[in-house]
Amino acid sequence: MKTKILLKESEMPTHWYNVIADMPNPPTPPLGPDGNPVGPDALAAIFPEALIQQEMSGERWIKIPDEVREVLRLWRPSPLYRAHRLEKMLNTPAKIFYKNESVSPAGSHKPNTAVAQAYYNKQAGIKKLTTETGAGQWGCSIALAGQMFGLEVEVFMVNISYGQKPYRRTMMKTWGAQVHASPTNLTESGRSVLAKDPNSEGSLGIAISEAVEIAASRPDTNYALGSVLNHVLLHQTIIGEEAKKQLAMVGEYPDMIFAPCGGGSNFGGIAFPFFADKAAGKQIELIAVEPTSCPTLTKGTYAYDFGDAIGLTPLMKMYTLGHDFMPPGIHAGGLRYHGDSALISQLYNEGLLGAVAVPQIETFEAGVLFAKSEGIVPAPESTHAIAATIREAKRCAETGEAKTLLFNLSGHGHFDMTSYDRYFAGELEDYDYPEEAIKESLAHLPKVG
Ligand SMILES: Cc1ncc(COP(=O)(O)O)c(C=O)c1O
Repeated sequence: MKTKILLKESEMPTHWYNVIADMPNPPTPPLGPDGNPVGPDALAAIFPEALIQQEMSGERWIKIPDEVREVLRLWRPSPLYRAHRLEKMLNTPAKIFYKNESVSPAGSHKPNTAVAQAYYNKQAGIKKLTTETGAGQWGCSIALAGQMFGLEVEVFMVNISYGQKPYRRTMMKTWGAQVHASPTNLTESGRSVLAKDPNSEGSLGIAISEAVEIAASRPDTNYALGSVLNHVLLHQTIIGEEAKKQLAMVGEYPDMIFAPCGGGSNFGGIAFPFFADKAAGKQIELIAVEPTSCPTLTKGTYAYDFGDAIGLTPLMKMYTLGHDFMPPGIHAGGLRYHGDSALISQLYNEGLLGAVAVPQIETFEAGVLFAKSEGIVPAPESTHAIAATIREAKRCAETGEAKTLLFNLSGHGHFDMTSYDRYFAGELEDYDYPEEAIKESLAHLPKVG
């Protein structure tokens, strides 16, 4: 019985898979402030042309440049594991597999797209990238990727995470990046938030506003987004492509796939290559797992909204809790985002993807059980997928079904020990579904049409 299912370096995928080619309906276009679809020009102030083309492309397969594959080879192909020991602990007939994305230098799936984005920006003659980071995983990834291709990197880190994760800051600095606690006084966006709340915990939406503002104001500077956009999900499909090959090596195919869902990049990354089979008639459930305190898919509204808190980005049709919704300060910082990928939102709206929400304490219980059985201490974001997988494995134990379950271990939790400490001290809370706050921010949705 195999535990690690490994691909050779030469078997690393050569192309990214573009889900748009297999969607039943064309993707909804992003809209400008006038309510009309934005063309490539509107994005050119902050993204290089190659990424804008990928953002709009309907081609099924897009070649991964050799220079990008060369850097990805530092940790890819990533291993697929059979979680024998977790299965035993749960006494379940279900077969549990997980794709281990924690093996990248930054500790998560995020460098898969960071490396590609840094490469295309370098090709376009850009000198500096700005970005936001929540948990610190994305900031580290873009710092690493900037270092690989000789770009400067400036990171706006959500204030609450800046305090919770000092060593993520140090890691970014080790790779040469400059890091600020957001909101800052450096941007108009940050100053406007601080004027209302000088002790703001910050949010991904606010940090995005700051990073976009800086990039838009300087010709040699572009912005890099760690999730949500089509090209980011595209770059992450290498995860699902590899997992599919690895499962085939042991004669398996998943009945269900679970992944944590913040902006949707690791969920899309693992799920989309399997969606191609679903579109061709195969039976498979693809399930995004989110926090009950920031329940974008399960309780949000499908509407056009801004991607950032201040309203600088084009409008995207997505499940949203309202762009100025301030999620409770849960420990899965990477899941505190008001919106979701437009592609995932559309497929979810059409009933082709599933979603569940899990409360914070259950996710930490799952993370600890996983660490005790499989050894790896998971990131608080990843524990959401583990918790949902455990729920299903327990259900299988009751019904006797031997389902094949796959989840994405999107990252390790080595920099999240403060959060684990608080869990062990009994200090973590399960936040109630913030119904009033969501209602209030949904009242501020932009009017379209
Ligand atoms: C380890 C980890 N998993 C999941 C996520 C959620 O992001 P996404 O939905 O884009 O994969 C993050 C975001 O920071 C993360 O750091």
